[in-house]
Amino acid sequence: MTRSPLPVGLIFGGASGEHAVSIRSAATVAAAVRHADNAGRYTLRCFYIDPDGRWWGSDVAEAVLAQGTPVRPEQLPQPLPEPGFRGFPAGALEVAIWLPVLHGPNGEDGTIQGLFTLMQVPFVGSGVLGSAVGMDKQAMKAAFAAAGLPQVPYACASASQVAQDPNALLDRLEAELGYPCFVKPANLGSSVGISKATDRASLLAGLQAAAALDPRLVIEQGVTARELECAVRGGGHQPLQASVLGEICFDADWYDYETKYSEGKSHTVIPAVVPEAIAQRARAMAIQACEAVAAMGLSRVDFFYSEASGELWLNEINTLPGFTSQSMYPMLWAASGVPLPILVREMLEGAREWHQASLLGGPSA
Ligand SMILES: Nc1ncnc2c1ncn2[C@@H]1O[C@H](COP(=O)(O)OP(=O)(O)O)[C@@H](O)[C@H]1O
Ligand SMILES: [Mg+2]
Repeated sequence: MTRSPLPVGLIFGGASGEHAVSIRSAATVAAAVRHADNAGRYTLRCFYIDPDGRWWGSDVAEAVLAQGTPVRPEQLPQPLPEPGFRGFPAGALEVAIWLPVLHGPNGEDGTIQGLFTLMQVPFVGSGVLGSAVGMDKQAMKAAFAAAGLPQVPYACASASQVAQDPNALLDRLEAELGYPCFVKPANLGSSVGISKATDRASLLAGLQAAAALDPRLVIEQGVTARELECAVRGGGHQPLQASVLGEICFDADWYDYETKYSEGKSHTVIPAVVPEAIAQRARAMAIQACEAVAAMGLSRVDFFYSEASGELWLNEINTLPGFTSQSMYPMLWAASGVPLPILVREMLEGAREWHQASLLGGPSA
């Protein structure tokens, strides 16, 4: 049976610190949708959210994809509308399936998923709940803990505790966690705002820096461990499937922003060289992690693995992982026998089937 090509809406950029990464991810995904293996199936329409949150149609979006870097103000039609979402650009209402390739706040956190849900149009990836719980490290950790999944010891704090009674907070964190520990804003990503504290002074400085970025904070006991990652896809009507594992190796004390995004400072090993029992445990935990936060479609689940003790801890879930040509998520699937054009096609078809079933009164995400 042949069908006419479906309009797929690729939306990228976003009012988030990960705007530039999203553009690189979107270029890879656009090429996969347009790949010869998907010929005749889809027509791709691209939409760009500028760093101030305005939505733009295909002229601006294609120009940004071609240049590979954020829009320059003079490229945008003037006068500029107010920042934020002010309505749909031309072509958006005809989209049959949305493909959000957005990272971080305003794209990975349930906000745009809520808009697509209200529109009653299928979209790739987790729904409002999975996206929101996966984004906020406090909520994510609570969901993992409730599911009995192993995590390093952690504590939660708020920016107002840092401002109002820092000494009481420092006392509590020293008693519960000790040093070294890691301070994290709950809702950023790419290691932004994260610091490693080795004493009371650096803990206070780290808390104050994180509190300036986010009212919700997480503090974790520091562990010496290798960093493993697993890609998950499926969900809805399909079983969740876990990929082979990858390892991030880097030449730094920890995987901070500079190490993540500087050429040559880190590399990946796929498949990760770990005992088969560890690989199996991580794959099973990756699926449990998705179930715990209600993630579906695609997620990357990250682990800490102590070779010395054999312990494996869940670190985090990313419900819209990076898709650049160097990103772990597509590479893990390629190494598991699923090339990128097929991976993207199956994500689109899975979203469509899930949506159709929910319209028929089936389970909703
Ligand atoms: N508890 C910890 N022990 C050791 N290293 C950690 C710990 N938490 C974070 N790190 C280091 O910080 C990096 C970023 O932390 P992560 O929680 O993954 O934040 P992000 O969401 O920004 O990626 C990790 O990849 C790791 O190198
Ligand atoms: Mg991380």
